[in-house]
Amino acid sequence: MNILAFETSCDETAAAVVRDGREILSSVVLSQIDIHALYGGVVPEIASRRHMETVAALAEEALRQAGLDKNGVDGVAVTHAPGLIGALLVGVGFAKGAAFALGKPLIPVHHIRGHIAANYLHFPDLAPPFTALVVSGGHTLILDAADYTRIRVLGSTVDDAAGEAFDKVARVLGLGYPGGAALDALAARGAPDAYRLPRPHGGDNPYDMSFSGLKTAVLSLLNSARMRGTPVDEAGLAASFTAAVCDMLVSRTARAAGELGYDKVVLAGGVAANSALRRALTAALPDRRLYMPPVALCGDNAAMIGAQAYYEWASGALGDMSLNGYANLPVESCSFYVNP
Ligand code: KG4
Ligand code: ZN
Repeated sequence: MNILAFETSCDETAAAVVRDGREILSSVVLSQIDIHALYGGVVPEIASRRHMETVAALAEEALRQAGLDKNGVDGVAVTHAPGLIGALLVGVGFAKGAAFALGKPLIPVHHIRGHIAANYLHFPDLAPPFTALVVSGGHTLILDAADYTRIRVLGSTVDDAAGEAFDKVARVLGLGYPGGAALDALAARGAPDAYRLPRPHGGDNPYDMSFSGLKTAVLSLLNSARMRGTPVDEAGLAASFTAAVCDMLVSRTARAAGELGYDKVVLAGGVAANSALRRALTAALPDRRLYMPPVALCGDNAAMIGAQAYYEWASGALGDMSLNGYANLPVESCSFYVNP
């Protein structure tokens, strides 16, 4: 089953062809970061317009690189939620047109489910059930992945996403936007105990997290040092911030792994590229099989959407020409469009 997949939920326009959920035949990603960096963040309307201009050419390129013509496509997949609504609608509209023209099934994919599925592309033997930690620019979730399409949220952030906190701290340290990867590099040169930073709880649910207080602590520490003219150990601050984020993520993931009892733990999302997080998880879970996608598959791409689409299709979760995009949609609730 060759699935032509699209991802336009934020600031990457991406198309890919994936075979049977596991094999990347092609994957093209066109990042818009250079444009949005001028504004210090993603400008939704610009993102939608860029997707509109480039999505058709990317589809052609994905087919060309896969060595397929249109007749070799067996299904068309698209991220329909969550994300920037205008951006999502470009992909959804294009995928609907493609599925209709080709007479092939249309397969809607939840972006977070796609991030998890990036692991299926790299680890051919990986299969649920597993505990999952998904950390991206928009989401921070601890999940029970009982099956490919049966996913339950154990906990999530109650305010900022982990990636958002990385980006805000990176911005005040002058590392540009999005600064997660640059902060990772800076932190590697600093001591994780250089500054004492809070590790707030997310409320009553032991799996919930909060990053806004930690972010504010770093920003006010920097502000007051700058006002007083006292020097700041920037690498130490980056390392201490990263260590606090890692503690919060890793302790909850380890607890979830213990409670769920699965032998596998899966990491996913853009922040899964973070070197300290990868090390901390590895150290904290010596008795589990830990799966972490290669850095190239951590960020947004369409191959991960094509991978998850195979399992959505196998479960019968297809879309039709009434498919819409959704800015917010819980990762569990993908069954409303299942055809009877
Ligand atoms: O999953 P993703 O590509 O987009 C969303 O779905 O949000 O995640 C992007 C996020 C950004 O916040 C970016 O700064 C962060 O992932 N990120 C990192 C690293 N690489 C990317 N954060 C920390 N360390 C990294 N190495
Ligand atoms: Zn993402």
